[in-house]
Amino acid sequence: MDPASLDVYDPGAYVAAVPHEMFGWLRRNDPVFWQELPEGRGYWALTKHADVVAASRDPATFSAARQSILIQDPDPESLALLRTQLLSMDPPEHGRLRRTVLAGFTPGMVRRLEPRIRELTRTILDAAAARGECDFVRDVAAELPVQVIAEIMGVPHEDRHRLSEWGDRLTGMDDPETAVSPEATRQASVEMGTYGFALAQARKGRAGSDLISVLMNAEFDGHRVNEVEFAALFVQITVAGNETTRTLLSQSLLALLDHPGSWEALARDPELLETGIEELLRFTSPLHYFRRTATRDVRLRGKRIREGDRVVLLYSSANRDEEVFAQPDRLNLRRAPNPHVAFGFGEHFCLGAKLARLEARVFLEELLARFERIELLGPPRRLRSNLINGVKQIPVRLVPQAGWRAA
Ligand code: HEM
Repeated sequence: MDPASLDVYDPGAYVAAVPHEMFGWLRRNDPVFWQELPEGRGYWALTKHADVVAASRDPATFSAARQSILIQDPDPESLALLRTQLLSMDPPEHGRLRRTVLAGFTPGMVRRLEPRIRELTRTILDAAAARGECDFVRDVAAELPVQVIAEIMGVPHEDRHRLSEWGDRLTGMDDPETAVSPEATRQASVEMGTYGFALAQARKGRAGSDLISVLMNAEFDGHRVNEVEFAALFVQITVAGNETTRTLLSQSLLALLDHPGSWEALARDPELLETGIEELLRFTSPLHYFRRTATRDVRLRGKRIREGDRVVLLYSSANRDEEVFAQPDRLNLRRAPNPHVAFGFGEHFCLGAKLARLEARVFLEELLARFERIELLGPPRRLRSNLINGVKQIPVRLVPQAGWRAA
């Protein structure tokens, strides 16, 4: 490869497929890569698993709060708003708020959701099966995460599509079909926060088992979440949990269709889903990167990172690192151990990981039990994005198991 032509920033480079060949070349030849940006100044792209992990566990050197977590620096007004969200906080503020949220969002709470997630999944799959042919992204994969978040938050059913619309405006900035102006993006964040604020106010002082009521009415670790903090959390949890999980479900279907025998193997042995879902997370890496900012000068693999430099943790590349994963470009549903970083690592490790894993397991169990096979009716259309490994459309025909009937 010609090093001068490498570009891991260009969202256009992610349209046909994730540029894994380029990532592989960089891991072998220039693992801490200086990427120029079209508007000048660039960023360091960390492509090795060990470096992504080391930077993630060192927030004192690699700060999430300084300029938040996307490549472009936010304007001061947006930065102030972002810094109220978990992802863009550093210790000690981050730990305090994270422990408070974790106390409400417990593994027990997630486990108790399983029957409801199954019920929602069955209803979504029944509707798709009745149609026979559909867009797997819009009609199936996008529905479950948004319905589950709405359920957890106690958002009225009829408002759930507003959550998706706001989310799309906040994350689709590089795709011509979803891009809106920076002003409209900020507006989406404000509208969503205002909506969350109103929900929080309405639940304060009222008993309930949804996450809003739990967070608004309890005191954890001497800290009480106020309406302003909740509004920020609401935006963060909804955006972080929606598009990523939709991507995991859509890309998992594509990965299974692309690897003959894998669908049948999972259908025969649903226990394989335990390692299978970890492998699908590694293989599909729904989020390509999050960014940090260096707080001091530091050397990494011979490169000099200066204070204030942008540092991008390329999860998609780390998850294919041949030093950690044997035959990394192969989907191996039995892979174990599987120390992937699809959910990040360390201080900011995904708070919704248990929920995402549960949704994926229930979804795939139901999908495999219901359909003998799924046929592609045309090429999938990928999202133009260097942030999310998204798919916009997967036209499919769903072929039910012989004798299967809706409940
Ligand atoms: C397949 C689905 C998902 C993927 C791939 C994913 C990925 C990630 C990643 C990479 C991070 C950052 C980790 C880091 O910086 O070290 C993160 C953080 C986070 N995720 Fe997820 N996520 C998913 C689902 C969810 C869900 C379902 C929720 C909530 C309902 C959620 C809520 C969050 C929150 C609140 C954070 C911030 C945690 C913090 O800063 O302490 N995510 N996620």
